[in-house]
Amino acid sequence: STYVSVNKEACIACGSCNSVAPDIFDLDDDGIAEVIYEGDKNQGITIISQDLQEELQEAIESCPTQCILLAEVPFA
Ligand code: F3S
Repeated sequence: STYVSVNKEACIACGSCNSVAPDIFDLDDDGIAEVIYEGDKNQGITIISQDLQEELQEAIESCPTQCILLAEVPFA
């Protein structure tokens, strides 16, 4: 299983992750990305479903600052 969270301090608001994987990432009022999947609120405590793994990988690869963080265990 996979957990994901955005390091918002390193995000440069390019918006790519939201374009590639809108079910997982949204942009806040400053354009900084956050995980919104199933109400996660960027806590990284929600398992991303299997059918979204491809989108997730694409989003990670598309991020210019590599601030989308993955983990096998919850972030919080
Ligand atoms: Fe930010 Fe990377 Fe997304 S820079 S907007 S987390 S693609």
